[in-house]
Amino acid sequence: MLWIAGAELAAAVSNAGALGIISPYAGMDEGDDPRENLRLQIRRARSLTCRPFGVNIPLDLPMSGLLIDVVLQEKVNIAVTAAGSPELFTELLHSAGIRVVHVISSVRQAQRAEACGVDAVIASGIEAGGRLGRDAIALCSLIPQVVNAVRIPVIAAGGIADATGMAAALKLGCDGVQLGTRFAASVESLAHSRYKRAIVDAHDGDTVVTQQYGVPARILRSSLDAGAGSRLAQLEGDVVNGIAYAGSSAGLIGEVLPAAAIVENLAESFASRL
Ligand SMILES: Cc1cc2nc3c(=O)[nH]c(=O)nc-3n(C[C@H](O)[C@H](O)[C@H](O)COP(=O)(O)O)c2cc1C
Repeated sequence: MLWIAGAELAAAVSNAGALGIISPYAGMDEGDDPRENLRLQIRRARSLTCRPFGVNIPLDLPMSGLLIDVVLQEKVNIAVTAAGSPELFTELLHSAGIRVVHVISSVRQAQRAEACGVDAVIASGIEAGGRLGRDAIALCSLIPQVVNAVRIPVIAAGGIADATGMAAALKLGCDGVQLGTRFAASVESLAHSRYKRAIVDAHDGDTVVTQQYGVPARILRSSLDAGAGSRLAQLEGDVVNGIAYAGSSAGLIGEVLPAAAIVENLAESFASRL
């Protein structure tokens, strides 16, 4: 989660037994260098956990190649690539012993990612917070089709915030789940308190899909895309003028919780819901 997934959140998630993911822009000021920020976040996460964690690199970022260099230099365990071709960096990352997970939103993209050698795919449904694939497929239809089409592990993302959702996704055949909005509203997330509050206050119908730079994105209904980007909402708490990404999972989130409590709740409760 571009501006808000820093070392503290990733380490707390990993320490609780899941896989925390760092974003290169986490907590950054507008003019800062994301390479330096990423290096700092990785090293800080290492000081907070001895467990594996990942780094997310949206491949459409202007500096994505340079950010991949930092991932290589710092020998991160897992790179989560998104919004671009898995052909670009998978081989390079593998040559450094780094596993690659790629975000997809259709069967065709999943097959292409597998053909490029990625280790797993994150199948993102229309319910997900943030930018979406153009295909806009609901998770419960997308997961079984992707699972049937590829042999690599499939991780479901979109609209999942609790153990019931996780159990349902696993029943559809996926191997794991990714939660975004639930962790945006966690204690360790760098999100502004107003943004966390807006997620907690959101009901079932309070997110919508809008076009952002020609790509669909799921955001809080109350936020207007005034061209100010997502930093304004995520870090400065202006959830009206900034783009406040949130999944339809927001309606399931009733309080800001420590990341460990979120992971523990998932781990403890999902088996009984299977
Ligand atoms: C505030 C926010 C920022 C996000 N930023 C990114 C990002 O930078 N890169 C990415 O691959 N996905 C991003 N996502 C998508 C999440 O990784 C995840 O797939 C999605 O949130 C899952 O749906 P959920 O929000 O219903 O849990 C973002 C989601 C949110 C809510």
